[in-house]
This record gives sequence, C-alpha cells and structure tokens, in this order.
Amino acid sequence: MELNITVRLARHPAREGRRFSEFAVTLEERMTVLDALFRVQRGMDSSVGFRCACRVGMCGTCAVLINRVPRLACSTPVKGLGSDVVTIEPLPGYPVIKDVAVSLAPFFDQWRRALPAFRPKDRDAPALVRIPRDSPFGRLAGPKRDCITCGACHAACSITGTNAAYLGPAAINKALLRILDPRDAASGDRLKILDSQTSGVWRCHTQFNCTAVCPRGINLTESIGQVKRALLRPRKAFQA
Ligand code: SF4
Ligand code: FES
Repeated sequence: MELNITVRLARHPAREGRRFSEFAVTLEERMTVLDALFRVQRGMDSSVGFRCACRVGMCGTCAVLINRVPRLACSTPVKGLGSDVVTIEPLPGYPVIKDVAVSLAPFFDQWRRALPAFRPKDRDAPALVRIPRDSPFGRLAGPKRDCITCGACHAACSITGTNAAYLGPAAINKALLRILDPRDAASGDRLKILDSQTSGVWRCHTQFNCTAVCPRGINLTESIGQVKRALLRPRKAFQA
C-alpha cells in the first residue's frame, strides 16, 4: 500500500518569505521520515538541508522535530505517526545550519564539561580490568550506556531551553556512568560539577521530557535522581 502525505518542512533561511515549504510525497508503507526527506531532496528540491549518516538509528545525526516531538528521522516510520501531514523542524535549542540541520555545539559543550572521558585509577595497569555484566556496576550501567549523542533529550528539556548553563540530561547520564565505574578516579571532580546550583542536577524539575524522547530508552530522569541521591546521601547512593 502507498502512503500519500504532505511534508511540511521548516526552511532556514526562509524561502520566498515562507518559513515552511510543502511537498506532496508518495511513500511505500514501510518508509521512514528520512526516506520522505530523501524523496523531497532527490525529486523535488535539491536545496533541502538535513543530516544523516548510518540510517539505522546508530549514529544520532538525524534527530529532528517531527510533528512537534524530537525523534530520529531514520527510525520513525511515517505510517506510525498516524497523520497525512508530517511537519519536520530543526531540534529546538540549537543553532540552525540549514533547514532542519542543526549544530550540536551547545550539547557537546555541556558534554565536555561533565568530564566524559575515563580517568583510570591505575594509570600503569597493562590492561583495563574487566567488569562482569552481573556485577553491581554492570547492572547499574547496563541500561544507561547506549547513548548515541543525538541531542533529542537536550532539545526536549524545558530547563536547557531557559538556562543555557544547565548540563542537560545526556551529559549528566554520562557523568553518572563514569562515577559508577569502580575503575575511574575522577568521581569527586564530577560530583562537584554535578552539584552546581546553576548548572548541575538541581536544575532538573523531574518532568521526564528527556526520558520520553530518548530513542535508546535511557531513563535519564532516573539517572539525574540517582546523582541527586548520591549528593544527599553519599554512602547509600547507588544500589543495583
Ligand atoms: S540520552 Fe538518549 S536522547 Fe539523549 S543524546 Fe543520548 S540517545 Fe539521544
Ligand atoms: S541516520 Fe544515524 S541515527 Fe538516523
């Protein structure tokens, strides 16, 4: 069966004074929003700008706002949207490069501030100590380590939208993973950063917007809550 839809695409800069361009697109039933964007770009308007790389939900580059919700274009079947009008806009809160392609610089600026790199306790160890999946760290970290840095959670968060200093859910989740890791030596430094009254976990209002949009199913709100508990009750903080 074919799907006949209207793609409403945000334009930046505006085209002939209009903020949206509309395209009538015919798709096969299984096709995604990314397929629709390619149909438009290859068959109707080659100037349309968007980003993608892997096309299978692995790289995080194709996140856009689809019918007002941040999603991966390559992993969003058009049929599942239940609408014959598909509005595609850039992720909010990021500088727009062209049409729906944004710069993730604000996301990665915060990511870097959270000290995402592993800092080994034993710098002279010949190899990294292996940690079994069923260890306390394995159980705590398992559901939290699949972030593909798509930026959707940062875009959905109502706090990042009003406070550019806030680290945001993905950076906090990444810092938590390092804090949980018994091989890492920089937990104290990270907890100090996360404890900031202006940019740390206390800015989170527990609205679950980030968790709702994460394409990897990471419970970011829970991660932020775990850090809050660690700061309030350091000895009891993390339980598998
Ligand atoms: S935590 Fe989820 S929504 Fe946020 S950047 Fe990572 S994959 Fe994307
Ligand atoms: S193109 Fe890689 S996640 Fe969509």
